[in-house]
Amino acid sequence: MKNIIIFGAPGSGKGTYSDEIVAKYGMGHISTGDVLRSEIKNDTELGKIAKGYIDNGQLIPDELMIDILAKTYDELPEGKGVIFDGFPRTIAQAEALKKMLAERNHDMGVMVELVVDEETLLARLLHRAIEQGRADDNEETIKKRFEVYHKQTEPLAEWFEKEGMRNTFTWKGSKEQMLADIFAFLDAQ
Ligand code: AP5
Ligand code: MG
Repeated sequence: MKNIIIFGAPGSGKGTYSDEIVAKYGMGHISTGDVLRSEIKNDTELGKIAKGYIDNGQLIPDELMIDILAKTYDELPEGKGVIFDGFPRTIAQAEALKKMLAERNHDMGVMVELVVDEETLLARLLHRAIEQGRADDNEETIKKRFEVYHKQTEPLAEWFEKEGMRNTFTWKGSKEQMLADIFAFLDAQ
């Protein structure tokens, strides 16, 4: 399977659909959010730095994030394809990913964009707050995450468009339908 970049707002389902894609195609999965949360849990130096940003709904600085991504990528077995979940989130990160993969003679692959209305996103994240208690799933931080997404990440969709990689899947109320559409697209790759 080719590499996949799964892209979308907080709560759009990047993690959820990544799990389904991994189960079906058996590829690697890098969630930069999960990598950072694990560093925080283990109280590492990186975790201490990341916590300040995550708790405020802000992005970790690009240079730091790009280093972490490259290190995580190189630890995965080669040749199976990787889903990038939550990376890239800025134009600088996208350019860095393109360069990093080119240096390894690997392809960027395909981009899957999840588009979900904000009311649904908020409801999902508030529900997850009750079930899982993620530190950044409170209404104040969620609103900041939405703002950061609109300002710093959403413009990146145009970057993917120019690269000829953008494939958009819009939420219409059925998870099964969304998944079927994504699988039909990936099966054709
Ligand atoms: P990250 O962990 O990536 O969080 P996020 O982008 O805010 O997205 P979420 O994980 O909240 O949502 P998701 O799209 O994965 O949706 P999910 O499948 O969980 O990043 C966290 C922070 O880390 C950032 O704010 C930043 O500080 C830092 N960071 C991470 N990457 C970075 C980077 N590259 N650069 C700089 N900083 C970075 O679904 C949400 C919920 O909805 C789940 O509970 C799910 O079960 C539920 N749900 C209900 N119905 C559905 C449905 N139909 N489809 C999918 N999910 C559904
Ligand atoms: Mg996630």
